[in-house]
Amino acid sequence: MAVVTGASTGIGEATAIRLAREPGAELVLVARREELLRELAESLPCRATCVAVDLTADEAPQRVRQHLEAEHGGELHLLVNNAGAAWRGSFAEGGHANVQRHMELNFDAVVRLTEALLPLLRASAPSAIVNLASTAGRVSRARTGAYSASKFALIGWSDSLYAEEKPGGVHVGLVMPGFVRTEGFPATELREKALTRWIVSEPATVAEAIYECGPGGKPERYVPRPYALAAIARILLPSLTRRVLSGGAASNLTTSTAGDGDRGPAPS
Ligand SMILES: NC(=O)c1ccc[n+]([C@@H]2O[C@H](COP(=O)([O-])OP(=O)(O)OC[C@H]3O[C@@H](n4cnc5c(N)ncnc54)[C@H](OP(=O)(O)O)[C@@H]3O)[C@@H](O)[C@H]2O)c1
Repeated sequence: MAVVTGASTGIGEATAIRLAREPGAELVLVARREELLRELAESLPCRATCVAVDLTADEAPQRVRQHLEAEHGGELHLLVNNAGAAWRGSFAEGGHANVQRHMELNFDAVVRLTEALLPLLRASAPSAIVNLASTAGRVSRARTGAYSASKFALIGWSDSLYAEEKPGGVHVGLVMPGFVRTEGFPATELREKALTRWIVSEPATVAEAIYECGPGGKPERYVPRPYALAAIARILLPSLTRRVLSGGAASNLTTSTAGDGDRGPAPS
């Protein structure tokens, strides 16, 4: 029995498709757009139900828990905290409001849902939680500070939760993708250039990493794996890393997100 948040598109959708291949799979798909969730649920080769909810809403965690108890007997072996978004912008433009908006979805909503479902995961152990962080949760670039802050927070909290829940048989894994072509992160600028096209991964590749870090029991995975070098450089060579990431070469890695187009940074 698995819950996948942000299952209506991108990495979450690919994860649902991947998990549905496992024998005896049963899924709860969570996101705001009900029609997309229903279409996906009907296309899967296993039982799948949906909860259409805004995960930042006060009642969201209890709605998911009540659904699990009413429709699936309250068992839970895997929670994939994948829903997330980015709204680019400098701190001078977006201010605290943009930081808060990222924290509410990418961190607070994950913590709140995990709090509501942890008793079910413990009772169903061995079980696992996989948190979707990002390579941006290890290294930060201009105009992504609010997004990076939310993912840095998620990584720190996940490491602690791993240590706390390990004795009870609830594994906590982390997946840190680089650039992945999805609705929210189209990576159009990178895919248009031959020089950078190769660094963009597919959602299905991340879904495999999520499986490895959940039921597979691995602690963490970068996707693609060489992105780990960025994290290592940040620790061992901080001055050089900062120079590179704030220099001209880094501007080749600047991408816009769906959040920019739809809404822009939150007003400050
Ligand atoms: N793609 C990348 O390059 C990349 C890189 C590193 C990390 N990540 C992380 O991977 C995760 C998945 O992103 P993705 O690339 O697959 O993006 P995506 O295609 O935009 O998917 C985001 C998912 O989150 C859901 N969502 C957004 N806001 C929500 C809310 N308030 N309540 C409930 N659901 C919400 C969306 O569904 P609805 O709109 O239907 O609610 C959608 O299913 C995110 O945490 C992201 O930060 C992505």
